[in-house]
Amino acid sequence: MINRPRRLRKNETIRNMVAETAINPDSLVYPMFVVEGEGVKEEIPSMPGQYRFSVDELLKEVSTFGTLGLKSVLLFGIPHHKDEMASEAYAENGIVQRAVRALKQKFPDLYVITDVCLCEYMSHGHCGIVKDGDVDNDPTLELLAKTALSHAQAGADMVAPSDMMDGRVAAIREKLDENGFCNTPIMAYSAKFASAFYGPFRDAADSAPHFGNRKTYQMDVRNAREALHEVALDMEEGADIVMVKPGLAFLDILRATAEMSDVPVAVYNVSGEYAMVKAAAQKGWIDENAIIRETLIAFRRAGADIIITYHAKEALEKGLV
Ligand code: PBG
Repeated sequence: MINRPRRLRKNETIRNMVAETAINPDSLVYPMFVVEGEGVKEEIPSMPGQYRFSVDELLKEVSTFGTLGLKSVLLFGIPHHKDEMASEAYAENGIVQRAVRALKQKFPDLYVITDVCLCEYMSHGHCGIVKDGDVDNDPTLELLAKTALSHAQAGADMVAPSDMMDGRVAAIREKLDENGFCNTPIMAYSAKFASAFYGPFRDAADSAPHFGNRKTYQMDVRNAREALHEVALDMEEGADIVMVKPGLAFLDILRATAEMSDVPVAVYNVSGEYAMVKAAAQKGWIDENAIIRETLIAFRRAGADIIITYHAKEALEKGLV
């Protein structure tokens, strides 16, 4: 036998020498939930180890990130007040706007990305203005653009629209530019599928739609070509980074996106993926650390430049990356 691939697997040194993939700790983004009030640090039942923080507690939590080497967060807000126009989403003193201001003041080097969506702020839980039982695309764009602008004005380093309305990247770009934020990048949730893997997030953010589902705006999980069309449109509209979401069940889409994209590619390792790992680990059914490492490697191998994951903090704490 001439070919013996096992020769290069003989010991850890040679395995490490020929390893094709590594995770860059700087490419990890940590999603966090912020709520109204003070002294709130409430564990999310379906996401063990993840919390809803009031702004003061958020600051305490983030104060440990510098030493860990965790450099970026993706913020989600959960307001007290919800209505049919999502007015808290773009309120100057909304929960996310206050959190961003506090974070940037205390930790100027922390890279703060904000999720731009309306579902957490709408009384009906949909990602836009509802008309005749469905989300009305074009009037929603104005609210999304206003929301993104208010985040930038509060000091957000980057905005990340997750609503899946047609034309939102262009609308947000235009609004940001008109107001002097031409250097604020947009990370677009480009290929975002209507997925059951968002279940725990919707508990966490209290954002489940009260009627129907998100299938008229988020993508059909059966479609790959359409995902690349969405990515291409977002790039044309000016997306600085494109994203595939969820991660594990969509690695084919991630690979295809990485091959065709002109801009960096992000993947979102979503709440349901996290919850499954935690549940199995709590039962002692899996080797949790090995699973986390393998999952993150899979994203990188498939072509992700940026990995948004609830495991970010523990991966750095435990030295998994
Ligand atoms: C808001 C939004 C969602 C997620 C990110 N932004 C939920 C949804 O679309 O229903 C999901 C994140 C996760 O599951 O971790 N539209």
